[in-house]
Amino acid sequence: MPDTLAKNRVIPAPSHPLDPLTQDEIRRAATAIRAAYDLGAGMMFETISLREPEKNVVQAFRPGAPVPRVAFVCAFDRNNGKVYEALVDLANGKVMNWHHVPDVRPRILIDDINLVGEVARADPRFQAALAKRGITDIDRVQVDPWSAGNYGLPDEEGRRLSHTFCWYRSEKNDNGYAHPIEGLCAVIDLDRAEVLRIDDYGAAETPMENRNYAARFRDVFRDDVKPLEIVQADGPSFTVEGNEVRWQKWRFRVGFNAREGLVLHTIGYEDGGRLRPVLHRAALSEMVVPYGHPGSGHFRKNAFDVGEYGIGVLANSLTLGCDCLGAIRYFDAWLADSKGDPYKIESAVCLHEEDFGILWKHTDLFTGEVDVRRARRLVVSSISTIGNYEYGLFWYFHQDGSIHFEMKATGILNTAALKPGERPDYGTIVSPGVYAHYHQHIFNMRLDVAIDGERNRVVEVDTVALPEGPDNPYANAFTVRETVLKTEQGAQRNVDFNAARFWKILSADSRNRMGQPTGYKLVPLSPVPIFSGAQSMVAKRAAFMTRQLWVTAYHPDEMYAAGRYPNQSSGGDGLPAWTAADRPLVDTDIVVWHSFGLHHIPRPEDFPVQPVTTSGFTLHPVGFFSENPALDVPPAKSSMSCCVG
Ligand code: CO
Repeated sequence: MPDTLAKNRVIPAPSHPLDPLTQDEIRRAATAIRAAYDLGAGMMFETISLREPEKNVVQAFRPGAPVPRVAFVCAFDRNNGKVYEALVDLANGKVMNWHHVPDVRPRILIDDINLVGEVARADPRFQAALAKRGITDIDRVQVDPWSAGNYGLPDEEGRRLSHTFCWYRSEKNDNGYAHPIEGLCAVIDLDRAEVLRIDDYGAAETPMENRNYAARFRDVFRDDVKPLEIVQADGPSFTVEGNEVRWQKWRFRVGFNAREGLVLHTIGYEDGGRLRPVLHRAALSEMVVPYGHPGSGHFRKNAFDVGEYGIGVLANSLTLGCDCLGAIRYFDAWLADSKGDPYKIESAVCLHEEDFGILWKHTDLFTGEVDVRRARRLVVSSISTIGNYEYGLFWYFHQDGSIHFEMKATGILNTAALKPGERPDYGTIVSPGVYAHYHQHIFNMRLDVAIDGERNRVVEVDTVALPEGPDNPYANAFTVRETVLKTEQGAQRNVDFNAARFWKILSADSRNRMGQPTGYKLVPLSPVPIFSGAQSMVAKRAAFMTRQLWVTAYHPDEMYAAGRYPNQSSGGDGLPAWTAADRPLVDTDIVVWHSFGLHHIPRPEDFPVQPVTTSGFTLHPVGFFSENPALDVPPAKSSMSCCVG
């Protein structure tokens, strides 16, 4: 077995400035903060993660040199809700810039997830509301800890909250989402560990048909599935050193943190002995799931799963042969709990190769000579469970120089029960009495582009049909119109189907053999129109979703599309705030933000567990190379020698 697959996956010490914090570094950061600014019994750590160094530090770094290490820490005091941020220099344990951040809420922590159910179930008002619905076995009530949003309710002001929905489980492992307990929401004060308010919107009959999907509930399986083995007798074609991955001509580094989960750094392509940068950093900056039902507490359903919960915190430990198939290299993730203690998510990130059909082919019409190459792709992935849903973040690197990101959505639909006389205007009935509301999943990917260097520009490309006339006598002419997106206000753009619109990111400094600027195009594969009203709280708080494209001038603190603290935010943070400055964007260091997603009108086939549905985007080289970069991919060794000539 090659060394890259060795069992020992623990990285003992950071070897590169972009390596995630180690177990030891997390502990040292927490110890330093407690020593200098102990908040006492109410002290909770929201985040301890790497403060990524400036680009010039990363670019100047050479292996073996001292590694600069700074931790970013966010802590808060449960006794008064005050949130603090600081940096810790890990070399000397010095706390820098400890400061109070006013009027913000930290994200919902793992600790809160169980607390919410315990607090709700112990509350007599909650119990009475359940009894009214004929439910007395309180331990079978599943309480999901939703983020509360911000609806300006005076009693909610200044508190850190969760707003709950509940379900009934007829046994411990039952699929509760088949038994929605309608109209009962609890508003929980997380810091005081108490029910602030019960919102009873009126009951519906709880549907009780069992809709379990797990193998343990099933004794009949289709019997015609024969084994399909992936064999890589000589091992995979990638190598991993620390967190650096090399696969054919691609080079990048794997990062991971509590909030964004999987992060890719310094993505480059080796071309003629030269490593050409493509992206400095790529990560999911935010996401939101707005639901379309206006009543019964459902109007509050619009989770920001990255910023309000942390998609990294909720990452799964992946398993060989199930989540990923073939010769696998896993990366573990070290995160901090609320006490500042490190803990490990084993095998949080999976790296492997997949066959991907054909790469290119041509049969000479006149000689019959055939040339075909098989494609393979490198997959870097992680999967997070956020309540009822699973999100799979899958990055694919291709031999033709393209990069594809796919978000796989699976898991269980969030359900409700139809009230007596209620018409199913806002969802689909997916099981007798079980109603799944219309909703959307909108993701925002932050792409810190670096096409052949940091000086880039974005060009919008529309295709236009030309009018019939002397220059176009047969009315067949169409051409492209390119518009440089010059400033941040003018670079808030939407997809135009009728113009077959896409965006190119071009280098200011590099040209190909034909003299064209080298570039990549962003192909928006999954644009989502928005149906939340402009005046709605979700549209204000998740303004990123209203445009498929945003471009900003690079600033190291501008990381998250809805701001650093979206939980219970009042809106306007992140992209709308930063782009108000309308900074220039031409031939400078820019960041491209792409919003995309799933418009989800549920189907009966999405229940009781939803087959994977995908959305995403592609980055295609456009003039980055002077010809098809995959000509040198060797023909497959086939016993039938059908791949060449
Ligand atoms: Co959905």
